[in-house]
Amino acid sequence: MKLRVEDKRGLVSPEALKAKMAESAAVLARAQAGEEKYADSQGWLKVEEWAGEKVLAEIEAIADRVKKTCDAFVLIGVGGSNNAARSVIEALADGSGVEIIYAGNTLSAHALSKMLRQLEGKDFAIDCIAKNFETLEPGSSFRILRKALAEKYSPEEAASRVICTGTYGSSLEKLCQDNGYTFVPFPTNIGGRYTAMSYVGLLPMACAGIDIRALVKGASEMEARLHSEGCEDNLALRYAALRNLYNEKGYQLEMLSCFEPRLRWFFKWWTQLFAESEGKDGKGLFPVCAEYSEELHAVGQYIQDGAPLMFETFIDVKDPGASLVIEPDGKKDYFDYLNGMDFADVNRAAFEATVTAHSDKLPCLIFEVEKLDAHAFGSLFYFFQFACYVSGGILGINPFDQPGVEAYKGWMFKALGK
Ligand code: PA5
Repeated sequence: MKLRVEDKRGLVSPEALKAKMAESAAVLARAQAGEEKYADSQGWLKVEEWAGEKVLAEIEAIADRVKKTCDAFVLIGVGGSNNAARSVIEALADGSGVEIIYAGNTLSAHALSKMLRQLEGKDFAIDCIAKNFETLEPGSSFRILRKALAEKYSPEEAASRVICTGTYGSSLEKLCQDNGYTFVPFPTNIGGRYTAMSYVGLLPMACAGIDIRALVKGASEMEARLHSEGCEDNLALRYAALRNLYNEKGYQLEMLSCFEPRLRWFFKWWTQLFAESEGKDGKGLFPVCAEYSEELHAVGQYIQDGAPLMFETFIDVKDPGASLVIEPDGKKDYFDYLNGMDFADVNRAAFEATVTAHSDKLPCLIFEVEKLDAHAFGSLFYFFQFACYVSGGILGINPFDQPGVEAYKGWMFKALGK
């Protein structure tokens, strides 16, 4: 993975970036070593800790059982208990695993009724993923799905189709013990949004047929890279320093953009990672996303001409993953200039033109990714998690807690009479 910067107006000079990176050397060193004060949140720093051979073998054994007995697998989880798995499944699932259906991420009666209808006539299993098992969305979905299982199968068979990913000692573990459900651990030392490389992210991915070993390899290689590069050339520090410098220059938003719809759900993961990690103490860039070329016809005008609120970060996937040539059909539609062109080349031309146009107005950072496969997703997860940690260190906030989310939960429980 490489980072190219297009900052035509020279808002951040190479010297200023170098100085910021040197000034942040201690932040990088602390992130590379891990910090005692964050000991309960850093189980992801060493990929091996929650995605070693023993964990992978257990996940594969459970996924094999699911694939043999199910048409569908329901992932019950919200936020960090859902987004990483969904990013990869929605981009890469190729039918070699079971269909993944999502629940526990909404309170909409309409959406949940639709989800139950999707299960009709299918054999299915469910995985309730919840760190503390107090969150309303997964807790309420788990109930209706247990009922759906009970109506379809014998009590023993229904129980054999329930998996829970929860913390040791939690009420979810007790529920599993009391009812004979399969229990796998939610890492006690990782917060939800950093759990891609653990049972939380990897088990649903394996059920969908994703090569989780390639994913873990990508993350481990990125770990080795970011822990060995120093403060002059560390890619995560460079990105973290740039985004903080642009923030200091007055930009309040970072927009993540791409020309690849397969990244749609990854963008949701990225938004959660940065919003929940950095939006604290009245600080932090607000993360937004744009999926091009569609959004060029929507927010494109604002980006080009509106208030200077944002800088833009692109993910440029080099390998289009498919080829589709536009052939003439003999009708006069005035699109003959496209004759014989591949959509992959048209999309690339649109990307280059957009960067040229946007970088006249705002700084553009471009991450170049060779190919969108499981290995690449592993690298991206680790890269952005580590960059978020370093960026939070530069900003001076705790990137691992979420006091604002806890506050809203309190008011919601009060409203529901809990
Ligand atoms: O990243 C986080 O900590 C949060 O987004 C949580 O993952 C999310 O709130 C879900 O929490 P839980 O797994 O406890 O239901």
